[in-house]
Amino acid sequence: MHLVGMVNPPTSQYAENWRNPLGRADWLSGRFYQDLGRTLERGLFDMIFFADALAVPEDGAGDYATTLRTAGKGSIYLDPVTTIALVAGATSKIGLGATVSTSFVPPYAIARQLLSVDHLSGGRVAWNIVTSTTDAEARNMGQAGIASPGDRYDHADQVVETVTQLWNSWEPGALVHDQEAGLFADPDRVHRVADELADLARGPFTLPRSPQGQPVLMQAGSSPRGRAFAARWAEIVFAIGDSEDDMRALREELRDRARVDHGRDPDSIRVLQGVQPIVGWTEAEAQAKLTSLKAQIDLPAALTKLERLLHAEALDPAARANEALAAHRGATGSVGFEDMLASVSERRDFTVAELAIEQALNQLHPQLVGCPATIADRLEHLFLTEAADGFIVMPALYHSSFEDFVNGVVPELQRRGVFRRAYGGETLRALLDQPSPGAFEAQARR
Ligand SMILES: Cc1cc2nc3c(=O)[nH]c(=O)nc-3n(C[C@H](O)[C@H](O)[C@H](O)COP(=O)(O)O)c2cc1C
Repeated sequence: MHLVGMVNPPTSQYAENWRNPLGRADWLSGRFYQDLGRTLERGLFDMIFFADALAVPEDGAGDYATTLRTAGKGSIYLDPVTTIALVAGATSKIGLGATVSTSFVPPYAIARQLLSVDHLSGGRVAWNIVTSTTDAEARNMGQAGIASPGDRYDHADQVVETVTQLWNSWEPGALVHDQEAGLFADPDRVHRVADELADLARGPFTLPRSPQGQPVLMQAGSSPRGRAFAARWAEIVFAIGDSEDDMRALREELRDRARVDHGRDPDSIRVLQGVQPIVGWTEAEAQAKLTSLKAQIDLPAALTKLERLLHAEALDPAARANEALAAHRGATGSVGFEDMLASVSERRDFTVAELAIEQALNQLHPQLVGCPATIADRLEHLFLTEAADGFIVMPALYHSSFEDFVNGVVPELQRRGVFRRAYGGETLRALLDQPSPGAFEAQARR
């Protein structure tokens, strides 16, 4: 089983983390992230992963005031690549995942940032590939507005192709470093990018291959086009399943498409499901924690956030959530996310107020509440019945939710024989048991 810890403070998946007494407040300090990395490494996690966006989210009128006033998700983001570089120095085994958008900067810049940290960390980096979804982000990056989803993914295909060619610009062994013979690098084994991508980058790259071959590719888009992209490129897929059957169906679909459409080994794609664990030493303690987290949610603020998310004005809290969602389709920029909101609201027959509370509590991501054995039972079941290759743990509170998970749930998973008892390799690919694509391909491009 693979475990990844997701990091996006100060709000987290639980909107009130920033004002909970158990939530640490030093999230603009390096120590905050280094401590998180050490905690997850103590729990033998595969990876710590940093989400990102490039703008303070705005409402339908283009105003950011609500987001900032209510600590809306996305009020604060540190640059993820800079942050993983810092965490790399405080850890030695855990993988380091950074979100970088394909839509705004040249592939050379993306390739360089990520491969630099991959070298400096000894081969522990993963790239969470996003295309970005909002006009606000595009405007911050010097564009008039965000491109259509289809165009964004088409461009992302080209960007990832170019980035991976740059990463493989030096064949294995091209850095000869023969001091006696006086040969530093063998130019016959260092190549340019393919001609058809020359408008994006020419190469060769200023870095040889990484200790893990190349950074691991990760993706979380869930629309049909997003899944096609994942089947082509992703080695880790970050999914949010509404039910066990949905989780299994998605994993099956992605594995099939990777094999049939792209000739990939289905095991080269690891599908990880997001979960928010609320761990107590007893069931009663876990339920009490949940009650207290819920009690802290301010309904008017939660409604305001939902209105902002849906670009809606004055939603009626008593109205059926699905009707409100249908009336505001397209507002979030993510087809997959809106499908998920609609399906959960339908299944649970939510009112707008209930949807707002649930969104503030866990962003509708599956929540597991209980003592360590109960939570481990559930994760073990999902893993053994092939609904997931592992999980992305989304904490409610930094750092206490991760500490509870590492202290309580990890030992239970180890006892069941489904999770490692020690790190078995030096690179992230070794932890994921994923060979590097193209590791030994001769690349006759020049
Ligand atoms: C669980 C999850 C996590 C995501 N994390 C990020 C993120 O950190 N930054 C970002 O820009 N987009 C993030 N996204 C958005 C997706 O990467 C994708 O761009 C978006 O869902 C639109 O694609 P889609 O229409 O194919 O779903 C996330 C999506 C999901 C489902």
